[in-house]
Amino acid sequence: MRVFVPRDSAARSVGADEVAERIAAQTQGREVEVVRTGSRGMLWLEPLVEVETAVGRVGYGSVAPEGVDGLIAAGMLAGEGESLGLVEELPWMRRQERLTFKRVGVIDPLSAQDYEAHGGMRGLREALAMTPADVVEAVVESGLRGRGGAGFPTGIKWRTVLGAEADLKFVCCNADEGDSGTFADRMLIEGDPFTLIEGMTIAAYAVGAAEGYVYLRSEYPDAVATLKAAIARAHQEGWLGPDILGSGFGFDLHVRVGAGAYICGEETSMLESLEGKRGMVRAKPPIPALQGLFGRPTVVNNVLSLATVPTILAHGAKIYASYGSGRSRGTSVFQLGGNVAHGGIVETAFGITLGELVNDFGGGTASGRPTRAVQVGGPLGAYLPIEQFDLPMDYEAFAQAGAMVGHGGIVVFDDTVDMAAMARFAFEFCAAESCGKCTPCRVGAVRGVETIDRIVAGTDRDKNLLVLEDLCELMTDGSLCAMGGLTPMPVRSAVRHFGEDFNA
Ligand code: NAI
Ligand code: SF4
Repeated sequence: MRVFVPRDSAARSVGADEVAERIAAQTQGREVEVVRTGSRGMLWLEPLVEVETAVGRVGYGSVAPEGVDGLIAAGMLAGEGESLGLVEELPWMRRQERLTFKRVGVIDPLSAQDYEAHGGMRGLREALAMTPADVVEAVVESGLRGRGGAGFPTGIKWRTVLGAEADLKFVCCNADEGDSGTFADRMLIEGDPFTLIEGMTIAAYAVGAAEGYVYLRSEYPDAVATLKAAIARAHQEGWLGPDILGSGFGFDLHVRVGAGAYICGEETSMLESLEGKRGMVRAKPPIPALQGLFGRPTVVNNVLSLATVPTILAHGAKIYASYGSGRSRGTSVFQLGGNVAHGGIVETAFGITLGELVNDFGGGTASGRPTRAVQVGGPLGAYLPIEQFDLPMDYEAFAQAGAMVGHGGIVVFDDTVDMAAMARFAFEFCAAESCGKCTPCRVGAVRGVETIDRIVAGTDRDKNLLVLEDLCELMTDGSLCAMGGLTPMPVRSAVRHFGEDFNA
């Protein structure tokens, strides 16, 4: 029989390793295999231990190492005792539509056998039987848009790279997940790294690239180790290398670790860093699709975009496109964090409302106080009040509301939050993380902090609110990249929805 204990770093941070060791020690000599998996994404239940039974996996939440003996004595190994019931039947799991995350928390992330047994490599096999142009068109047809935040159609980007003439092309995966409140890239890499490798290989085949890089942040040491081990394993399986699956197509993959600059998540800055230079933003055009890494045509996609491609190829573009709302097709992986009772990963079709995510999945605030604001889309995303909880998670609906879905991070605040302080923080963050290349961002961020300080001190409040709006307009229109260009979004939304906090 098998017992599953996550090895995801969120689970490890609350004792999953010790729990796994204790179960292994207590079951020595019995036919019990302790399998380490990714996390199901119900972070408040970690370490979540699952036991295989004839009817499915039975879960035991928040298991402490010292609680293991008691659970075993109460019949845990037979799925008995005080359990959560079948994990797949928990409301949190049942209400989701997991396509990209379908194997995360289910399989041993480094078992090639597990991966194939759960549908892995089907997408790549399908792709290799098609022409590269047909693969690109399938991704276009699926409606997949960049999950890093900008939502640019992935297939159109690939079409540009396919059409570019060059002796060498690259596929780069942006795994520099710097947005506060986001962790889906990390959980995918730690829980199902082969799906990213498969997605990158499909991308490489589609555009004619021979080499790929994953740019991973140093703050994610477990993800770095897991991905490197998975790449080595993929070579052994013939899933990477000079002749993939006997197709004659060759592709190799490397991991590069960033040193902690938020701006290295901006694609051109990431390319500079990959080339061994300081992470400074490049002016666009030229776009990386035409002149990217080392000046060659380069696909730059986020982890989730690439990890979704195998599903699209395996099940068909039409099926993927049948999920979602408006021009936001497929599913998205939302991440609930901050002051929320139930934080974690929710993968559903676009179109679910913000309120359903925060209240139905998240269960309101962890403090038990009323929710006052949520920030969606990272530190550069808008703060939204509960009056906007019926907003559907959809790129266009959010843009119309002066907000953005971004990378899907949702950070919850209760009624003790000071929104003027949050607006000030947006400028502080920008001042700290700005690459310094353009003046609106480099200088504007510092002036923004000073202006908010004057407003809350009551110094010429009305005049300084106008100065603030003028500054926001200048940064939005004049910044070279999204760092300075989007910093006004949280500031303006805080003033618009929570103006009372800007009184002296
Ligand atoms: P962008 O709109 O300039 O570009 C989006 C992508 O489309 C880029 O890869 C660009 O090269 C590509 N593209 C544009 N035109 C193209 C064409 N004709 N052919 C092929 N490719 C084309 O947006 P940008 O500046 O890359 O990203 C901004 C977003 O990043 C923000 O909306 C924010 O949500 C997100 N973000 C995400 C973070 C994270 O941790 N995931 C951190 C910070 C920001
Ligand atoms: Fe650098 Fe900021 Fe200008 Fe972007 S907006 S190029 S981060 S100074």
